[in-house]
Amino acid sequence: MNIVDIILDKRYGRALTDEQIAFFVKGVTDRSIPDYQASALLMAIVLNGMNEREMTTLTLEMAASGEQNDLSFVGDVTVDKHSTGGVGDKITPLVMSISSSFGVKTVKLTGRGLGFTGGTVDKFSSVEGFNIDIPKADFPRLVNENGMVISGQTPDLAPADKILYALRDVTGTVRSIPLIASSIMSKKLAGGADAIVLDVTTGSGAFMKTFEESRQIADAMIKIGERSGRKVVAVITDMDQPLGRYCGNVLEMQEVYDTLKGKGAPDVVAVATTIAAHMVKLAGKAEGLSDEDLISECKTRLSDGRAMAEFIKLIKAQGGHVNDDGLVFNAEPVEVYEVKAPESGFIFSIKTNELGHCSVALGAGRVTKDDVIDLGAGIGFRKKRGSPVREGDVICKLYVGKDSKLLSDTKTIESIADRVLRAYEISTSKPLEIRPVIDVLGA
Ligand code: URA
Repeated sequence: MNIVDIILDKRYGRALTDEQIAFFVKGVTDRSIPDYQASALLMAIVLNGMNEREMTTLTLEMAASGEQNDLSFVGDVTVDKHSTGGVGDKITPLVMSISSSFGVKTVKLTGRGLGFTGGTVDKFSSVEGFNIDIPKADFPRLVNENGMVISGQTPDLAPADKILYALRDVTGTVRSIPLIASSIMSKKLAGGADAIVLDVTTGSGAFMKTFEESRQIADAMIKIGERSGRKVVAVITDMDQPLGRYCGNVLEMQEVYDTLKGKGAPDVVAVATTIAAHMVKLAGKAEGLSDEDLISECKTRLSDGRAMAEFIKLIKAQGGHVNDDGLVFNAEPVEVYEVKAPESGFIFSIKTNELGHCSVALGAGRVTKDDVIDLGAGIGFRKKRGSPVREGDVICKLYVGKDSKLLSDTKTIESIADRVLRAYEISTSKPLEIRPVIDVLGA
């Protein structure tokens, strides 16, 4: 087989055979196909697409390019959850805790944040003592004892995707439905779960900016799941504003704790309970409840202490410190600035990605993978889209950790505050309401 012929086939719009796709992925992984030929094929895929069979084969081959988790030790249906990312996305600990209260077993492999969407690893790492790097050999014991385990993703999961993603990033070939869908699904399949609930975010703070684009990607991932024997449900959620009340690591974990005490922001509660309900359903633990009743039962458990009990169990099992006052953190957020409305009206729109970048500028995220995060940094969102504001009202608050060098750097804080303010559009008219959960596909 010859890579040039494969490139030409796709360049002329022909579907690739399973053997051609396997040859490509193997050659990418063992580096026998040089980057320029891999990039040429990626561009041909961007331009001419892939059918469902090709997408599924590409996904399975990438999943098989490295280690594949065997979760048979769980002895029950395992359900994974994945989010395409966003600002203030603290849903993972919530859905793990709620679904665990129904007896759902979860092995959650998760990533560090890069760019403006915070990583779940960093959020959990903000809890003092919490060990996020759990050796695989300890998964069975932890799942048996606590029903769940969360760990930083192993580097060997879908290495072909890692190589291809790095190439896509520098060759203008990231945005492509088959490439995005197969990239995400390859890591999920290698993770080993039987069923997957995808949180496909949409809007200014999401990877996919429009509902239509999000729906197409969700559809593609559901089809890949169907063809590879996994059950997949996609929940399309709003990211045209940050999720909940805070972004930043300590701030978000504190928000998780407050939500589990029954004081959650309505959007966080809506997204968490919908995703948890579908995890419970896919795991076969829904006991004949309708989707509506199941979501309502998830809401009850979120506020009556049952989900909190599971969360505390998880935190303690992995060494995290918690006392009567709540979680003990590795950093302390200090409020450094109140961003105020320059005029009266309604918050009409929010450039959510801009707020994400501002949070990174405060220290809450990484620009390069070796950057050190300030776990105490972040933003508190006081006004959301549609909120009425009067001139001078606080729209949001900026935080840095108590040891941050930005504490004495007023100039930088003011320039971040200015950028934050420019992310908000205030208007005399109220925007149309967008629900936090926009659609559920594949249920
Ligand atoms: N996230 C991924 O993991 N892969 C993509 O291609 C896009 C987003």
